Amino acid sequence: MIPADEFRRVLGHFATGVTVISTTGEDGRPTGLTASAFTSVSLDPPLVLVCVDHESQSYPALLERGRFAVSVLTTAQEDLSRRFATTRLDKFDGVPHRSGTLGLPILDGALAHLECVTVATHVEGDHTILVGRVEHARSDSGEPLLYYRGRYGRLSGANP
Ligand SMILES: Cc1cc2nc3c(=O)[nH]c(=O)nc-3n(C[C@H](O)[C@H](O)[C@H](O)COP(=O)(O)O)c2cc1C
Repeated sequence: MIPADEFRRVLGHFATGVTVISTTGEDGRPTGLTASAFTSVSLDPPLVLVCVDHESQSYPALLERGRFAVSVLTTAQEDLSRRFATTRLDKFDGVPHRSGTLGLPILDGALAHLECVTVATHVEGDHTILVGRVEHARSDSGEPLLYYRGRYGRLSGANP
């Protein structure tokens, strides 16, 4: 088997955008994590997926709530990407956000957001793939935050 460090290093060569996947816990508190393992799955019906580590503190709430929101981050939100990539319970405190149509926390200033109902979960290795049916989606203007080889970056010549 390929060593984990080498696997991570090679995968880092796949440039991605950055999202925050969020939901609310049993107590109604918003919770979420930074995730780049997000992709579209189907146009009809509109489906997306995200892969969540079983060690993630947000994972139980994501499973139990059965819905999740995706906030696509801009270059102005790099600090939020770092914040949501830590394990702490107060990640949303002081972070401007609002409740979406499905009652899910959405970050203000995101480049785009989607609200999803989880229609399938697949346990694969140490992650679970959550497949979400998109109930609401909206895009805004801004520059996408990129992640490549462990560093944040931006498009050159981006057209916000
Ligand atoms: C750019 C970036 C992308 C990430 N992508 C994912 C991902 O797709 N899935 C995942 O489970 N964790 C991902 N992580 C790691 C989580 O954000 C990190 O483990 C976080 O602490 C989880 O928070 P939680 O334990 O409060 O849920 C990523 C981190 C960074 C910085």
